[in-house]
Amino acid sequence: MANYQWKHADELKATAKAMVADYKGILAADESNNTATKRLEEVGITSSEEARRQYRKLLFNAPDVDNYISGVILYDETIKQSDDNGTPFPELLKGRGIIPGIKVDTGAKPLAGSPNEKVTEGLDGLRERLAEYYNMGARFSKWRAVITIGDDMPTQQCMEANAHALARYSALCQENGLVPMVEPEVMINGDHDIDTCEEITEDNLRIVFDELFRHNVMLEGVVLKTSMVISGLDAPKRAGVQEVADRTVSTLQRVVPPALGGVVFLSGGQGDVEATQHLDAMNKKFKDQVPWRLTFSYARALQNPALATWGSDMSNTEQAQKNFGFRAKLNSLASMGEYSEDMESKVA
Ligand code: 13P
Repeated sequence: MANYQWKHADELKATAKAMVADYKGILAADESNNTATKRLEEVGITSSEEARRQYRKLLFNAPDVDNYISGVILYDETIKQSDDNGTPFPELLKGRGIIPGIKVDTGAKPLAGSPNEKVTEGLDGLRERLAEYYNMGARFSKWRAVITIGDDMPTQQCMEANAHALARYSALCQENGLVPMVEPEVMINGDHDIDTCEEITEDNLRIVFDELFRHNVMLEGVVLKTSMVISGLDAPKRAGVQEVADRTVSTLQRVVPPALGGVVFLSGGQGDVEATQHLDAMNKKFKDQVPWRLTFSYARALQNPALATWGSDMSNTEQAQKNFGFRAKLNSLASMGEYSEDMESKVA
């Protein structure tokens, strides 16, 4: 019954479907100004509104990426910026057949009562902001919750508070015609093993889908953005590619309803090649067995080589664009299980 109350139902389903079209995935370019500054400074670039515009312009104009990228997640500053000819970025993307998206949470803040954990904020005034973003051309949005693995963490309180916010966010998005990209990120930081990650990912996703159901969210018009089931970065013995693929897919099969619009992954600090290998291994083995597309929504794993090149020579936008296009292409193939490692040696 709940599904029929959404006046945007058809549009939401169509958007979700287009976001996870075959051979395509999402570019996350929604780094907040703080994060963008950190990333630019790491490669020796001084961050400014103009430097961030130049960098995003480079990404959005990269040749051929419209074959591999279905949508781009923008940040508030970026969605209001334009290219050198005055074309607003959302319009530029739309012109290339790429769907503009927008990050709408306002960040993860310490959770009162459990200050080592975080709860994501941004619900106040969200209805009005969503309507504005829709008018600017955004057709999907993103909200990221942060779940940390550590001593006595995550707490039930943290997972529930974040899931509740994700559900309220999702319902508001659908009310306003935007597909919610629901991102409960289980952080890779720590020395935990893959069993721990699996258990927490499953528990947390269960809580998230319970809340989405309780808030009458239409699952066909939702895209889940999840972390993979993976060993902590500092784990003494990290699980291999096939195990990450198997554990991730079996966890999703246990908790993610078949009606969901699609599943995309964040890279979350994995190496660029590793993130591609994991996606490929999942699709090679399970593509025809799961009810959803499994594709990418990477920020770092798509951008790292491009950003490094641009950092070493800001005039060399052509090579930076090639580097971005190369990772986009390999991840596009991985999203169909058609990637192979020898492709890595074909220099971008
Ligand atoms: P990474 O792929 O760098 O983890 O970023 C994805 C993202 O959107 C995090 O919110």
